[in-house]
Amino acid sequence: MEKRVAVLPGDGIGPEVTEAAVEVLRAVGERFNHTFHFENGLIGGAAIDAGKEPLPQETIDLCEASDAVLLGAVGGPKWDDNPSHLRPERGLLAIRKTFDLFANLRPVAAVSTLIQSSPLKEEIARDVDVMIVRELTGGLYFGEPSTHDDEKAIDTLTYTRPEIERIIDKGFEIAMKRDKHLTSVDKANVLESSKLWRKIVEEKKADYPEVTVHHQLVDSAAMKLITNPGAFDVVVTENMFGDILSDEASVITGSLGLLPSASIRSDGFGLYEPVHGSAPDVAGQGVANPAATILSAAMMLTYSFDLLEEAQAIEDAVARVYEEGHFTADLTKDGALSTKEWTAKVVEQLSK
Ligand code: NAD
Ligand code: IPM
Ligand code: MN
Repeated sequence: MEKRVAVLPGDGIGPEVTEAAVEVLRAVGERFNHTFHFENGLIGGAAIDAGKEPLPQETIDLCEASDAVLLGAVGGPKWDDNPSHLRPERGLLAIRKTFDLFANLRPVAAVSTLIQSSPLKEEIARDVDVMIVRELTGGLYFGEPSTHDDEKAIDTLTYTRPEIERIIDKGFEIAMKRDKHLTSVDKANVLESSKLWRKIVEEKKADYPEVTVHHQLVDSAAMKLITNPGAFDVVVTENMFGDILSDEASVITGSLGLLPSASIRSDGFGLYEPVHGSAPDVAGQGVANPAATILSAAMMLTYSFDLLEEAQAIEDAVARVYEEGHFTADLTKDGALSTKEWTAKVVEQLSK
C-alpha cells in the first residue's frame, strides 16, 4: 500500500512527538511492505511565526492532497496574548471544521504495566477500557455570536439535529463493536442543547436494540469516571464536555502523554493527534512522552487505512516496551528514557 500523510508538527512538544510517530510509521512500512510519503505543513504558532494564518491555505491544500493527517499540538505562552483570530488554537479549530472532522475518538485503556503510575487505587484503574466519542465541530467552540469586551462576554452553544444525530450514530456504531454499552453524557437538567441531545439518543435507541443506554449528567459523570471507570464502555458527548472528560480520564492511565485520538469525517478521512497539548513546560527538552502520538498513528492505520494488523503491531510494540520497564519522565522518577531513546525501543520491537 502507498499512502500520503500530511504531518503538522505545530508547537511546543509537537515537533518532538510527531517525529517519533513518523519514525514508527516508517518502521511499520518497512516491516509490512507499505510506503508512507510524509510531507510537513505549518499550523498554529509555527504558522503565525512564519507570517501566515494559524491554518494557512497551503496547509489545507496539503491535507486535501493527502490520505490522512498527523498532528502534534498547537499553542503556548508566546501567543497567549494574540487577538483571537491569531491564536494557534484557531488553526486547530479551523482544520477540524474545514475537513468536517466531527467524530473525535479518544480511547482510554489502562496498561497493566503502568498501573503503579496512576494515582488511583489499582483495583479501580485495572482493566479500564473506555472509548470517549466527542463531538468535535459544534457546540460552544463554534457557536455565534462569540465576543467579549470589558463589560460583557458571549459564547453560544448551538447544536442542530443532524449534528447530534451523526455523532450519536457514531457512538452506537462503536458500542456495537465493543461491549454494547453506551453512556450519553449531557447537562439536560439545565441546557436546552442537552435536552435535544437526550431526545435524539432516546429516538436512536430503537435502531440499536442490542445496545444498553444510560444518560448521565456531566458533573456526576466526571465523578464516576474516577471512582468507577470500569462502569463505562462507550461515552458519547458534546464538544466541551468531551474535551474536559478526556483529560480527566487520562489520570486513570497514569499520564496524559498516553492518550491518542482520531478525528474522523464520515468517509473515513481523518486527522490523528494526541489528546494532550504542546506542554510548554517540557518542550525542547527531548523528554516528552511520544506514546500518545505513536498510538494516534496506529489509529490512523486502523481508521483511515484499514491496516489492522499493522496497527496492532504498533500497539503491541508499545506494550512490550512498557513491559520491559522502559519509561519516559512522565511515568517514572528514575531511569527515564528520552523521547528519542524510548521511540528507538518501539522501533526495535517493530523490527524484530
Ligand atoms: P498540556 O496538555 O500541554 O499539558 C498539561 C500537562 O501535561 C503539562 O504538565 C505537560 O508537561 C504534561 N504533558 C502533556 N503531554 C505530555 C507528554 N506527551 N509528555 C510528557 N508530559 C506531557 O496542557 P496545557 O498546559 O493546559 O496547555 C498548553 C498549551 O497547549 C496551550 O496553549 C493549549 O491551548 C494547548 N493545547 C493544545 C492541544 C492540541 O493541540 N490538541 C491540546 C490541549 C492543549
Ligand atoms: C484538545 C485541545 C483543543 C480543544 C484546544 C487546543 C483548542 O484542548 O484537542 O483537546 O479544546 O479541543
Ligand atoms: Mn483538550
